[in-house]
Amino acid sequence: MAILPICKYGDPVLRKKSEPIREITPELRQLAMDMLETLYDAPGCGLAAPQIGKNIRLVVIDTTLPEEEEKDPHIMFNPEWEPEEDAKPCDYDEGCLSVPDIFCNVVRPDKVAVRFFDINGEPQEIRHCEGLFARCIQHEVDHLNGDLFVDKISTSDRTLNQSKLRKMAKETQSKLKKK
Ligand code: NI
Repeated sequence: MAILPICKYGDPVLRKKSEPIREITPELRQLAMDMLETLYDAPGCGLAAPQIGKNIRLVVIDTTLPEEEEKDPHIMFNPEWEPEEDAKPCDYDEGCLSVPDIFCNVVRPDKVAVRFFDINGEPQEIRHCEGLFARCIQHEVDHLNGDLFVDKISTSDRTLNQSKLRKMAKETQSKLKKK
């Protein structure tokens, strides 16, 4: 297993639409395990492949707290979600491992169903996902489409965080040039 470097705001890889995965190879299984280890190390509750520099449709999610011993890892290849019929808009302060130190309210449906392929290539569906799990699914799938939570925050929150975001993008771009 390996801890992978996390790409930060301003890296163009975060803005590209990711490709569907056609075959779950041993390399992709290993990558998923490395992404989980990276997630636990960060720590965070979700990580999408673009965040470790790969534009492929793979996300890992675990909404247990860092101090909890019993983990609940989800590895999702080609995830797709839709709101449940009784879903309501819900407020929550989101953050992102690629956008450190910024937390802002994002409104999203509170209840979703998600379909994906598991690590064995089996199709799976989880209905009535709620709370942080439902939130993470939507946030991570956004990453696969090149979207970030800061695109969805209010105009006033955007204004408040604009200089922080600009600085972050500049720092990322100068680091990328040095590579
Ligand atoms: Ni994120």
